[in-house]
Amino acid sequence: MFRSMVRMSMLLTASFLFLNFARAQETKIKKVPIKPTAADSGEEMYKEYCGACHGKAGKGDGPAVAALKAPPPDLTLLAKNNGGKFPAEHVSAVLQMGVVEAAHGSKDMPVWGPLFGSVSHQDPAITHLRISNLTDFIKSIQTN
Ligand code: HEC
Repeated sequence: MFRSMVRMSMLLTASFLFLNFARAQETKIKKVPIKPTAADSGEEMYKEYCGACHGKAGKGDGPAVAALKAPPPDLTLLAKNNGGKFPAEHVSAVLQMGVVEAAHGSKDMPVWGPLFGSVSHQDPAITHLRISNLTDFIKSIQTN
């Protein structure tokens, strides 16, 4: 029951970008086009695009974690791990261009810039708005 729910939520909410059969024991991530969301709601975008991996509350415990090479980072600790200052520019850059440190990144984290373009009529201003609102939302869930 639990497993089939996990699989369901994968299909409904995950919007990912690769098939991973090799390490998938039960959980598989399916590559599907991302669903449109309101560009002005960081929270809605987070739930739709990020929660499956990073977890509902950002703690890195989403249902897709079993299919990832490494657990996703706890997004509520970004400020704490950066000397108390929320690294807004870093977060925006990661969303636009992906995780830059290729040596450390597992490549599981999608590159969102182009995906957001696909649900924003390829309008760079709307893509920018999405990234900015998502960054603000992640800022709002920081723990001290
Ligand atoms: C398929 C799973 C997955 C999804 C979906 C996903 N992430 Fe990630 N994310 C990861 C993983 C895994 C990492 C760690 C880096 C790596 O291994 O590539 C990461 C890293 C990050 C980082 C870098 C954190 C740091 O410490 O530098 C940020 C910020 C981030 N994700 C935000 C988001 C946001 C916002 C969304 C939704 C738009 C999202 N992620 C969707 C898996 C995911």
